[in-house]
Amino acid sequence: MIWQRVRPPRTPEELFRRRCTRCHGLPDLSRFARRQIEGIVRTMRERNGADEVITEEEAAVIVKYLEGKAK
Ligand code: HEC
Repeated sequence: MIWQRVRPPRTPEELFRRRCTRCHGLPDLSRFARRQIEGIVRTMRERNGADEVITEEEAAVIVKYLEGKAK
């Protein structure tokens, strides 16, 4: 149904799963340390073009989510 496709992501995890799979498979960040995560997301936006599909606000939510899962 249409509304399901346009429904905005409701949780940080969902945001991560949707935004970070536009260009590649779901990235596995388990091999990165918590302090590296912000830089990775920044690189995606600044160098790999992810700023087209991920706003700054969304990036901040994703970073927080991923940092929470990281070691
Ligand atoms: C606009 C496209 C795009 C989006 C959106 C995107 N990426 Fe990427 N990502 C890339 C490209 C291009 C590469 C480089 C692919 C390669 O190294 O073969 C990459 C590689 C990666 C890698 C591998 C880096 C490494 O050192 O092995 C990780 C981790 C990653 N992305 C995480 C993310 C995360 C997290 C998000 C969401 C915040 C995201 N990506 C969103 C384009 C994107």
